[in-house]
Amino acid sequence: MRIQRIGSKWAKTKVLQQSEALNELIPITNEWSISVLEQMLGELQMLYVKPDLGTFGKGVFRVEKQADNLYSYQLGTKLNTFPAFEDMARSLQEAIQGRRYLIQQGIPLLTYDSRRFDVRVMVQQNPKRKWETTGIIARLGDPSKIVTNCHSGGKAVSFDKLMRPYMTPSQMSGYKQWLAEIGLATAHQLQATYVGVKEIGLDVAIDESFRPWILEVNTIPDPYIFRKLTDKNIFRRIYRYHKSNNRRVK
Ligand SMILES: Nc1ncnc2c1ncn2[C@@H]1O[C@H](COP(=O)(O)OP(=O)(O)O)[C@@H](O)[C@H]1O
Ligand SMILES: [Mg+2]
Repeated sequence: MRIQRIGSKWAKTKVLQQSEALNELIPITNEWSISVLEQMLGELQMLYVKPDLGTFGKGVFRVEKQADNLYSYQLGTKLNTFPAFEDMARSLQEAIQGRRYLIQQGIPLLTYDSRRFDVRVMVQQNPKRKWETTGIIARLGDPSKIVTNCHSGGKAVSFDKLMRPYMTPSQMSGYKQWLAEIGLATAHQLQATYVGVKEIGLDVAIDESFRPWILEVNTIPDPYIFRKLTDKNIFRRIYRYHKSNNRRVK
């Protein structure tokens, strides 16, 4: 069976939301419109606005309602500030140029050395076609950026290193176990709709109260970021499963 790539973040989000347990872990997400933006900013101080078919952190905006009633959005390293919601919304509408966009509740990510980071959870079918969580790695964002993607200046770093200031080793291993289970549940839920999915990579945010949030799920996850880990066995297994999954493509 062919490996299936699902591009639309919105389609994948809707499939995951059908699971009660996973829905709890998904930030509030809606399709773009100015009225939805206004309503969500009424309730949330920070939002992410991202392309439905995006990758590599491209075209991702961070929108904020500032304390003094100013509104801002940032793309790349450029922060734009506006005196009123309408000005900001109009400018953002122009910037997205009619492409299909989503608006998502912004999660304040944990930081390390004042840099935001999130977590990539790799889940693959093993050669026995059983789902297995095969790797967990953190991605430390460039301090001037609002995304953590490695293609946008982010760096893959060991999860343990970045979490050490926050948790004891035994808490950390319990937390990784939890992330591994979330990964498996996500894989099973997606595969019920998209039978050709063989590997997924979850982008998981951890907020200040250590609650995990699924930001997005990639269906063609990059195995190579796991080369960064000192335990080479992790990448070896990921790569072996990856090759085996791709060999089955006829
Ligand atoms: N809701 C959010 N809250 C906080 N950060 C986010 C949110 N959505 C995305 N990000 C940041 O932007 C990055 C890219 O967003 P993502 O949804 O993964 O799209 P892409 O397909 O471009 O990787 C994430 O890895 C994360 O660093
Ligand atoms: Mg991503």
